[in-house]
Amino acid sequence: MGTLSSPLGSERHRDDTEVMTTPDPAHFEHHAALYDDARPPYPEELWQRLRDLSLLIPGGHALDLGAGSGQATGRLLAEGMHGTAVEPGVELGRHLHERFPQVSLLAATAEQVAIPDATFDIAVAATSIHWMDLSIVLPKISRALRPGGHLLVWRHIFGDPLSEATPFRQHIADIVSQRHAPPRPGPADVDTTGWATALVSGNFFTETHREEFRWAIRLDPAAVTKLFTTFSDWSADEVRQAAQAVKDEGGSVVEHYLTALIVLERL
Ligand SMILES: C[S@@+](CC[C@H](N)C(=O)[O-])C[C@H]1O[C@@H](n2cnc3c(N)ncnc32)[C@H](O)[C@@H]1O
Repeated sequence: MGTLSSPLGSERHRDDTEVMTTPDPAHFEHHAALYDDARPPYPEELWQRLRDLSLLIPGGHALDLGAGSGQATGRLLAEGMHGTAVEPGVELGRHLHERFPQVSLLAATAEQVAIPDATFDIAVAATSIHWMDLSIVLPKISRALRPGGHLLVWRHIFGDPLSEATPFRQHIADIVSQRHAPPRPGPADVDTTGWATALVSGNFFTETHREEFRWAIRLDPAAVTKLFTTFSDWSADEVRQAAQAVKDEGGSVVEHYLTALIVLERL
C-alpha cells in the first residue's frame, strides 16, 4: 500500500484493487479560485440570530478559524468587528487578503497556529470544525477568548435529511452508494447533537444555543458542477454525473439544505 501526503497532512491509501480516499483538507485549496463563487452564502436568518444573541459586537474582535476565502470573515467585518483569520491554504488566504486586507491573516492550521490569550470576543468555525482536532483546538480557543467569550460553530449541510427526497437527491444517493470510502472520524455531518456533545467535551465550553436553519436553492448544471467540485469527498467523475442528473431533470433542480448553528460560552 502506498501513501501520498497532501500539504495539509491528509493521506490517500492505494492498493491493487481500489482507491480509498479520505476527505482531503487541502481540497478547498485546490479549488480556491472558484470556492467563493460556488458556495452559497450563509442564510440571513443565521446572521440575524447572532445579532439577536448580541454575539456580533461592533468594535469587538473575532477569530475566524478555517476562514477559507473569507465568506464568514467578510460578514463579521460588515458587523463592525475586527477580524483575525486562521487559514492553512495559501491560495485561499491570498483570496481572503485581497478582499479584506484589514484582516490579520495567520497561515497555519488551527492546531499549529499561535494565538494570543484572552483577546477575542468570539471565535467562529464556519463549515470548518470537522477538519480540526478538537482535543487540541478547544483548549486553545478557550484560552484565546476573553472571559464570557463565545465559540460559534456552524456549517452548511448540503442535503436536508428532513426534506422530501427529490429525484435529483435519489441520483446523488446512488452516486454516493458506489463509493468505497472509509467513514470520516467524528459525528456525521447531520448529527448536530453529536457535534454539540463533542464541543462541550473537556469542559472548556458550555452550550448556550443550538438551531438549524432550513433553506432551498435552485441549481442548474453549471452551479451543481461548481458547488459539488468544492465538496471534499466528490471526484470529478461524480461531479459530472451529478451535473448530468440535473440535465436529466430538465435543466434545474431545487435543493433543500440546512445550516446548523451551535453557540458555546467559554467556561
Ligand atoms: C469548507 S471550507 C470553509 C471555509 C470558510 N470558513 C467558509 O465558511 O466558507 C473549510 C476550511 O477549513 C480549512 N481547514 C482545513 N483543515 C484545517 C485546520 N486543521 N485548521 C484550520 N483550517 C482548516 C480549509 O483550508 C478550508 O478553508
